[in-house]
Formats: sequence, C-alpha cells, structure tokens
Amino acid sequence: MINTEIFEQVDSYISNLFNPGDEALAATQLSIVTENIPSISISPNQGKFLHILAKLCNAKNILEMGTLAGYSTIWMARALPEGGKLITLEFDPHHAAVAQQNIDRAGLTDKVEIRVGKAIDNLPKLLAERLYPFDMIFIDADKPPYAEYFEWALKLSRPGTLIIADNVIRDGKVLDPGNGDDMVKGVHRFNKLLAATPGVTATIMQTVGVKEHDGMAIAIVN
Ligand code: SAH
Ligand code: DHB
Ligand code: MG
Repeated sequence: MINTEIFEQVDSYISNLFNPGDEALAATQLSIVTENIPSISISPNQGKFLHILAKLCNAKNILEMGTLAGYSTIWMARALPEGGKLITLEFDPHHAAVAQQNIDRAGLTDKVEIRVGKAIDNLPKLLAERLYPFDMIFIDADKPPYAEYFEWALKLSRPGTLIIADNVIRDGKVLDPGNGDDMVKGVHRFNKLLAATPGVTATIMQTVGVKEHDGMAIAIVN
C-alpha cells in the first residue's frame, strides 16, 4: 500500500510556497462547492505548471476543451499577453455560466471566450472561422473521444504548437488493456495514438499529489 499522504502534503507545501492567497482562484474553487459542480479541476500546482508552459511557448492563442468552473482557464489565460485570446469549449451550460462569473471576477473577460456545446461540434467551427493555429491546446473534456480531440488539435496546430491532455493515466488503470471503463478505454486509445503519431514529439508526466494518481500527456507538433 502506497502512503499517499506524503504526496498530498508535499503538493500542498509546494502550492503554499509558490501560489499563496489568490482571491480569484480561491473564489473559483469555492464556486465549485456552492454550485454543486464536480471537484475535478486540475490542482493548484498543475495550474501553475500550465501557466509556465503557456509562457514558455509565448502563447497568444490558447484552446481549451473542458472548462468546468474555469480554474484551469484562469491559470492559462493569466499567461497571455495584452490582446491574447483563450477559447474554451464546455458542454454543460451551468458549468459555463459559473465559469463566466469566475473569469469575470479574475478580470479576464476580454481574453477568454467560452463556447457552449459539444467540443466535437465546435472544433470544426474554429477551423471554418480560421481561428487557428493555436499556440497551445489543453484537452480536458470528456475522455472517450480524446483520440478524436487530438486529431482536431493537430488540424488546429502549427509546428511548435504545444498539446497537453489531462487524466491519461487514471490511477494506473491504463495498464490493464481489458479495463472496461469508457474513460479508461478512451485515454488508452489516445495514448496509443499519441505515441504512434510521427508528427509530434510526446511523453506523459505521471502526477501524484492532492488529486488521485494520474498523468498529463505533453506533445509538441514537429
Ligand atoms: N479543465 C477544467 C476541468 C474540466 S472537467 C479544470 O481543470 O479546471 C471536464 C469538463 O468537460 C466538464 O465541465 C464537462 O461538463 C465538460 N464536458 C463533458 N463532455 C463534453 C463535451 N462533449 N464537450 C465539451 N465539454 C464537455
Ligand atoms: C474527471 C475529469 C477530469 O478532467 C479530471 O481531471 C478528473 C476526473 C472525470 O470525468 O471523472
Ligand atoms: Mg482533468
């Protein structure tokens, strides 16, 4: 049996050191509780990590699939320069409404656009509207179509685009090829496709901490 308490404590130690007392993010986390939204946002340290990655790739144009309450959205949008844009796709109108309040409170109204609807219906519109290429794409919506989301991410990319996908290890359940869970099957299929795509250089970072054991896939378009 693994002692997960040490991972949680160290994760909290890191976020208390590097991201203390952030009102907009605290209010966003509180909204998840008061609005009865599932507690499945990325962790504070994962948010800071995405923020650093967005800065590293000088992102001016970010695409996110899966907004929830806007927690990851706020972390990434804060890395945008003046005039930068983040488009985030969310299926659930209640999540989108709460996220909009959180984004407004964070002072990011002009930088973030939430598009409500199924990601798979909105992705072709981004292509038709010529809103690509994106500098960074974060895949974090429903897990069964992750492979399709990745194919769309490639269409909306340019060489150098950074593509990140959350939740691709699922407590190690991806190790079992016979796992019947649709979410596990979806990320398993995504991981295999990612590894077999010659157009990207990719890996997966295993994550432990305040969230369950999971992983984030990281790919750069060649
Ligand atoms: N990125 C967020 C967490 C996203 S949770 C954060 O870390 O803060 C996954 C979100 O995807 C949920 O809000 C869910 O409603 C949304 N979702 C589920 N199916 C979807 C679909 N088909 N298209 C777009 N969003 C979807
Ligand atoms: C789930 C989704 C997520 O994006 C996440 O980070 C954790 C769990 C889920 O749908 O179960
Ligand atoms: Mg996630």
